[in-house]
Amino acid sequence: MKKIAVLISGGGTNLQSLIDAVNAGKVNGKIDIVISNRKNAYGLTRAQNEHIDTAYFSVKDFPNAEEYDRRIIAELQKRNIDVVVLAGYLKILTGDFISAFEKRIINIHPSLIPSFCGKDFHGMNVHNAVIKKGVKFTGATTHFVDENIDTGMIILQAVVPVTADDTAETVAEKVLVQEHDILVKTVAAFCDDKIRIQNNRAFIE
Ligand code: GRF
Repeated sequence: MKKIAVLISGGGTNLQSLIDAVNAGKVNGKIDIVISNRKNAYGLTRAQNEHIDTAYFSVKDFPNAEEYDRRIIAELQKRNIDVVVLAGYLKILTGDFISAFEKRIINIHPSLIPSFCGKDFHGMNVHNAVIKKGVKFTGATTHFVDENIDTGMIILQAVVPVTADDTAETVAEKVLVQEHDILVKTVAAFCDDKIRIQNNRAFIE
């Protein structure tokens, strides 16, 4: 039974999908702690409703990003966390964090990486850019987190058609449904040791 930590910054619908999947026995893992950099992140409430430990760390309490991450790493290592899930977590991880959990950090991104990703491409910024560009398909991606933004090995993707009458909001809604689906499938595969890495590419067996 793998021990999962989830890092959030917002509403936590991806976290909720993971909680529901664990409760339904679809994930061979246990969410051990939910950590946020935002005190009022509703995702913390979602975790508390399920009696899952939560922690909030304010960036103001730490001199720099390295010290901030070191505090979180210490918490995760104390709990023997096996996998870290970034579910709408808006802070960039430092190299120390990546090294401490090499190939054990999973992120969900609301586009088909390598499109519409990287610095400032989060939340509605992504979907606004998708509409502006006039692409016919967008989607969601799970990937391992490496030292850059949204560049780690892709694990799963889901495609969402974009039609002429779509808006950034309607696209966001359709993509979020797919995010929930592929995040659960990705974490479930990780917990079952079913993610295989070959030539620096990740595949679910
Ligand atoms: C969503 O836009 C999602 O694509 C991204 O973070 C945002 C909030 O997700 N990962 P959530 O509802 O907080 O899980």
